[in-house]
This record gives sequence, C-alpha cells and structure tokens, in this order.
Amino acid sequence: MKRHEFLRDLHKATANRNYLEIGVNDGRSLRLSRVPSIAIDPAFKVVTEIKCDVHLVKATSDDFFARENPLQHLKGGRHPLRNLKRGRSPFGYWRRTTLDLSFIDGMHLFEYALRDFINVEKHSDWSSVIVFDDMLPRNIDEAARDRHTGAWTGDVYKIVEILGRYRPDLVTVLVDTEPTGQLVVFGADPANTVLSDKYDEIMAEFDVPDPQKVPEAILDRVRAVRPETLLSAGFWGPLVRARNLGARRSRGWPPLRRALEEFAVSR
Ligand SMILES: C[S@@+](CC[C@H](N)C(=O)[O-])C[C@H]1O[C@@H](n2cnc3c(N)ncnc32)[C@H](O)[C@@H]1O
Repeated sequence: MKRHEFLRDLHKATANRNYLEIGVNDGRSLRLSRVPSIAIDPAFKVVTEIKCDVHLVKATSDDFFARENPLQHLKGGRHPLRNLKRGRSPFGYWRRTTLDLSFIDGMHLFEYALRDFINVEKHSDWSSVIVFDDMLPRNIDEAARDRHTGAWTGDVYKIVEILGRYRPDLVTVLVDTEPTGQLVVFGADPANTVLSDKYDEIMAEFDVPDPQKVPEAILDRVRAVRPETLLSAGFWGPLVRARNLGARRSRGWPPLRRALEEFAVSR
C-alpha cells in the first residue's frame, strides 16, 4: 500500500474531526482531508484541489508553533465544542483544541521531526493519532543528513529509537507503506516534558555525521506491520467512540493501550 492510500484510510479509521499537517509541498496529502485543517510549509506549492476548510500557513513549523494560540483556526470548525477539552491555566479554566490526527512530514532531519512531535503533542491527547512519514529508508544514502539523492528520507528514522527510549509510555507502530514507511504514535500526553527536557542530551547522541548507521532492522523493515493489518484492527471503533464522548485519559488510555499491546502480540 502506498503512503497516501494509508493516510486516506487512516482519516477514515480515526474519523478525525480535525487535521494538522507539517510539510505540504504540492498538496497531495492535504487533499485527503475533509475536516477543518491546519497545514504548515514555508514553501508550499499546492497544485491540487483542496476540499477542506484549511488554514494554509506559510512558515516553518517551529515559527508556527511559537505563535500565540496557533490552533485558533480549528476553534471555528464544524464541531466547535466536541473537540474542545477543559484544562487549567494559572488564570482558571480554559478550553483547548485537541488534535485528532496529525501528519509530520516537514524537514527530514530527526531534530526537526522531534521538535514537530514535541509541539504537536502539546496540542494532542491520549486519543490523538500522530503519524510520521519516511521512517523506513531503503538504504544508507537515502538516510543521509546531507541530501545527495533524489528520494530522501533523511535521518528521521531515529525517532523510533528516541521515542522507544525516552517515551516508553507511548505506543509506536511502524507501518510497511511504500515507498519509505510510516510510524503511527498513540497515547500522546500533553503534560509530558521528557523530550524537551532531554532535547540537548538527545542531540548530543543522535546528531552524528554521515554516513548514518541505519539499523539493519530498519532497512529490512522487520518490525513493520502491513498497513492493512493496522487499519483493520479492532481498537479504532472504541477509540473513536471514547474520544467523541470526551473520555478522560485515565478512562480512555488504559483499554486502548491494552488493545494495542494485544495487537502487537497477535500480528
Ligand atoms: C516531503 S514534502 C511533504 C509532502 C506532503 N506531505 C505529501 O505527502 O504530499 C516536505 C515538505 O516539507 C517542507 N518543509 C521543509 N522544512 C520545513 C519546516 N521547517 N517546517 C515545515 N515544513 C517544512 C518542504 O517545503 C516540503 O514541501
């Protein structure tokens, strides 16, 4: 299955009420969205018809997330109340928008993808689904930090190891899509600051010169599941229902985590 086909079916499986995309390019992934969306790219060149209500942002993702209230556009969406959750601020109660589905496909260097995840997670919750593109490079050249190939994944594949090591509370599923694989992350926790706290430590270890030592397991896709297997898993319906009812983390995440663990064992 090709990456855009997987993404299209993921929109269906998650029945997402909003969508955020980092890295738009010519709009081929953005055109799959039918819900209120935010799409960010400093150099987008959209050449395809877009069928959603979108805030198309011409900025880097770092600059976008540094704005005050970056998700403002989604507050005016078709379901203004259902995707809002109550939280606390020093000034009392406030409402925040929770992202249902996010696609991280911007700059293909691991530190950019990591910052994108840190920023997206601040606006996500246990029911959010966060997807990274280009997580399974096919060879060492394609995974170089210094681009010298046509197709280029860069070294974003390192995100799998970084999340596994620093964020064992998340569940990550590598997906064997064409051409270069994807990673689906479940269990986002906006209160968790480990990745930003450890950012310098992560940089010191993972920012190494080319050629990159891409693990054999990544090149051979040994842990990657068939996209069809993930899309037909039984947990999507319960996830969507609990999310739409506004289930808190303490109620929604434990059963979803158990279902994901059973999925991992059964596949
Ligand atoms: C691989 S393309 C995106 C493809 C698109 N998501 C799709 O599937 O059709 C990567 C895009 O990321 C954009 N990009 C590069 N650096 C970025 C950054 N710092 N923030 C956001 N987007 C960035 C590039 O301009 C480029 O258009």
